[in-house]
Amino acid sequence: MKNSRRDWFKKAGLAALGLSLAPMEGFAINSINISAVTGGTKIRLSSNENPYGPPMASRTAMTAAVNESNRYSWDQTSRLVAAIAKKNRLAEENVLMSAGSIEMLDIAGRLAAKDKGSIVIADNTFSYWTRAAVQLGAETIEVPLTNDKKIDLGAMLKAIRPDTKLVYICNPNNPTGTVLKTVDLVNFIKEASRKAIVLVDEAYIEFTDEASIATLVKDNKNVIVTRTFSKIYGLAGARIGYALAHADTIKEMDKLQAYVLGGISAVSGAGAIAALDDAAFVEKTKVLNEAAKNYTVGEMEKLGISCIPSSTNFLYFSLADYKKDFFKLLESNSIEGTGIFEENGRWSRITIGTMEDMQKLIRAIS
Ligand SMILES: Cc1ncc(COP(=O)(O)O)c(C=O)c1O
Repeated sequence: MKNSRRDWFKKAGLAALGLSLAPMEGFAINSINISAVTGGTKIRLSSNENPYGPPMASRTAMTAAVNESNRYSWDQTSRLVAAIAKKNRLAEENVLMSAGSIEMLDIAGRLAAKDKGSIVIADNTFSYWTRAAVQLGAETIEVPLTNDKKIDLGAMLKAIRPDTKLVYICNPNNPTGTVLKTVDLVNFIKEASRKAIVLVDEAYIEFTDEASIATLVKDNKNVIVTRTFSKIYGLAGARIGYALAHADTIKEMDKLQAYVLGGISAVSGAGAIAALDDAAFVEKTKVLNEAAKNYTVGEMEKLGISCIPSSTNFLYFSLADYKKDFFKLLESNSIEGTGIFEENGRWSRITIGTMEDMQKLIRAIS
C-alpha cells in the first residue's frame, strides 16, 4: 500500500514541489468512480468535486457517527454552527446550515422573490438555484461577462432596476473560474447593497488568494454569503453548506427553511466538524490542484485549446481552434466532462482531477 502511494507521489511530481510524504497519508485517490454512489466507472471531471476527499479525519468521525444515527443531531449541528462562526469571526446568529449551499442559494432566491421583482445575475454563471425564485414570479436580468470572462461589476450595478431585489455574484465564478479582487467586490457591495440584497456565492473561495467578504454581514443586512463543504473540503456527497448573513437576515431566511437545525445529518455534521480543523488537507488539496491545473493548461494550450486563467479547481476553455471531436474523445475514453456553455467560441469546462486523471485526459484528446 505504502509503496504504491509513494509511486503515485513520484508520478505527481510532488517531490519537485518539495512536499514530504508524511502529511499526505490521509489522501485517497478515488476519482475513478466504481461505486454505487456515483453509479459509474468513469473519470468524473464534470462536477468540480475534490478527488482527494473526504479528509481522513472526516472519514473517522463520520464512521463513528453512523452508530448514533438513531438520534437527532441538533447538539452537533449547534457545535458546527459555533465552529463556523468562530472561523469567520462572526456570531452564531450569523450562520444558517443547509444540505449543500444550493439550499441556501435557493432560500435567498425565494426570499428575494417574495415581492416578485427582479434578480440580476451574470451570463454565464451558476444559476441552477434561481428556479424557485422564477417560479414564484421573479424575473432574471442577465448581464454579459467581460471579454476576459470576469463578472462585469460596473454593468451589474447599472443593470439594477427599481424592482431589483437581489444581485448574485459567484466569486470565483462558475463556470469561468475567474475571481474578483476583494477590494473591487467590497466597493461594489457598498453601492449595490443600498438597492438590493447582494448574494455572494463563495463555493470556491478557498482555492483563491482573495479574502472572503463574509465579515461585511455583521453590519449590512443586505449581504448574504454562501459557502460549502462540497469543494475544498471534499464532502460533496455529504451535502453540507451554509449561509452567513446579518442576524436579522438569517431570521428571515430561517422562516423559509423547513426545520431549524434539522437539515444536517448526524454523519454529515460529524464529517464537517472534523474537516474544519483539517488545515493540512485544505492546503494539500490546493497544492495538488495547482500542479494538476498548471499541467493541464500547458498541455491544452499546446493542442490549440486556449484556457481562461483559473482561480478554482476547474478550467474554462475554448474549443474554437481545436479540430477533433473533443466530446466524442472524452466519451470513448470514459471521461465525464461537461458540454458547451457558450456557442460563440465553443467554451467548455473541465474539473481538475488528480494528476493521473489529467494525464489521461490529455492523452485522450491529443
Ligand atoms: C458556484 C457554486 N455554488 C454552489 C454550488 C452548490 O454546491 P453544494 O450544494 O454542493 O454546496 C455549486 C456546485 O457545483 C457551485 O459550483
